[in-house]
Amino acid sequence: MDMQAIASKNGNFNLKDYEGTRETFRWEDVNKHFTWNDTGKVNMAYEALDRHAEDSKTKDKIALIYSAPEREAKKTFSELSKESNKFANVLKKYGIEKGDRVFLFMPRSPEFYAAFFGILKIGAVAGPLFEAFMEQAVRDRLQDSEAKVLITTKELIARVPQEELPHLEKVIIVGEVPDDQGNYIDYKEEVDGASDQFDMVWVDLEDGMLLHYTSGSTGKPKGVYHVHNAMIQHYATGEWVLDLKEDDVYWCTADPGWVTGTSYGIFAPWLHGVTNVIRGGRFTPDDWYHTLEKYQVSVWYTAPTALRMLVSHGEEKLRSYDLTALRHLMSVGEPLNPEVITWGLAAFNLRIHDTWWMTETGAQLIVNLPALEIRPGSMGKPIPGIEAAIVDNEGNELPPNQMGNLAIKEGWPAMMRQIWNNPSKYESYFINGWYVSGDSAYRDEDGYFWFQGRLDDVINTSGERVGPFEVESKLIEHPAVAEAGVIGKPHPERGEIIKAFITLNDKYTETPELLEEIRVFVKTGLSAHAAPREIEVKDSIPKTRSGKIMRRLLKSWELGLPTGDTSTLEE
Ligand code: WT7
Repeated sequence: MDMQAIASKNGNFNLKDYEGTRETFRWEDVNKHFTWNDTGKVNMAYEALDRHAEDSKTKDKIALIYSAPEREAKKTFSELSKESNKFANVLKKYGIEKGDRVFLFMPRSPEFYAAFFGILKIGAVAGPLFEAFMEQAVRDRLQDSEAKVLITTKELIARVPQEELPHLEKVIIVGEVPDDQGNYIDYKEEVDGASDQFDMVWVDLEDGMLLHYTSGSTGKPKGVYHVHNAMIQHYATGEWVLDLKEDDVYWCTADPGWVTGTSYGIFAPWLHGVTNVIRGGRFTPDDWYHTLEKYQVSVWYTAPTALRMLVSHGEEKLRSYDLTALRHLMSVGEPLNPEVITWGLAAFNLRIHDTWWMTETGAQLIVNLPALEIRPGSMGKPIPGIEAAIVDNEGNELPPNQMGNLAIKEGWPAMMRQIWNNPSKYESYFINGWYVSGDSAYRDEDGYFWFQGRLDDVINTSGERVGPFEVESKLIEHPAVAEAGVIGKPHPERGEIIKAFITLNDKYTETPELLEEIRVFVKTGLSAHAAPREIEVKDSIPKTRSGKIMRRLLKSWELGLPTGDTSTLEE
């Protein structure tokens, strides 16, 4: 394969002078693009939505194109602004105030986005939950955040253990309201009856906006807390990395339950006032090509796992669609294989730009800028305003080509401000002024960063982050399972799949039916993407003397690698 760097094919990109901009750029300078620079008052919902709804040139522009197998809808900036005003009035009527947590647990739909902005307009903190979560995952997040309101649907309400959520005051149902004697609020009825005028609750840049839960290698999922100030970076990267222009039709395939689906599925495109395609339903190559063709998508942000599936379905399939509008492609979530970039060049006649960042970082940090040459397999270079380095465990910078912790100099606009209710966890991310990502990487002599893997046991399956502890905890809830250790096992399309090693309780013997029952138990208790695709029964699970599961050893066994230092292994 041709591993030569690929230079830009398109001269029409921003930030041509990367080095020069890095030298002079200050985050404060971006402020002048925003009206709050004059007023001192801010709200993401104003900058991303109402600002365009007030402007006679953009108020009737299509903000949102919703496309799902069973429904299509379009909303102008003005319409979306009014519906979110109405929803903000509904929240006000029920006593919701600035700082309260309001959660959304529903599939993507136009109502989701109106409700989301309504939450921001009242100054509350939005908590979007991925629709595939099952009861335990929902319970953990609503309990930890002490959410007051949940917006959900008839299909999903059964997974909400209302009696175990003392802080949950109201449940708002979008669509058909269940007739199970529950005390529900009907979204449509309330919104229809509400005024479309709302006095925006202006907040401070450092006030809370968003709570995304994410997994680590230990403990329950953590609430990553983001503030309105993040918009500065969403705006800047929308220009530099997404290269958004007025007439673009943009599509980000991520669900808003994950940070890509908010930062780049909501904020960046709408801060730039572009038309945003939202697609519901599951992935199939034909559906996705059809979406690109039908709406003449010009800028597309997706994930390696999806691209790999397109590759496996062949270039022929792609050739039957008109994708001539497409001019810019980006990827995030897992390593982007060089082979996929090569395929993209042949199939789309476009470069695929890898971008690296995390739930905690709130926005892109290390990217393949449109104006820079791409080195296939590299995540790219830090954007202006970001200092990235490879550091050792004490936070000392390492020289080029040496592997270590990928770290970012503390203090960028979109960085998380708290781990909800867990200050010591928040502190643990920082060493010697560096935010330490948990990824290992190296930097070459020319400043390109190369991802090498996770340093902890976090699993990345199809771009979704899964904590082994959560899966292990669920596994041992099953009566047959005594102990469990969970690892990520490399997989050509999904990046990694979840493999569980278990020991069985005395009364049980291994049968294919039992293993399937255990798999379904995790799937229905936690979520489909967290269910192990492989389960292997062992006589014992390796543990340290202090009782920690040695996942690293399980992984070495699985991959047939040397087992390394096992001196802490229990007898
Ligand atoms: C972890 C963060 C916010 C992006 C969506 C995932 C991995 C992310 C890349 C990339 C290799 C990547 C890292 C990171 N990751 N982007 N371009 N190349 N790995 O956010 O769920 O918070 O996961 O995803 O391991 O630490 P997340």
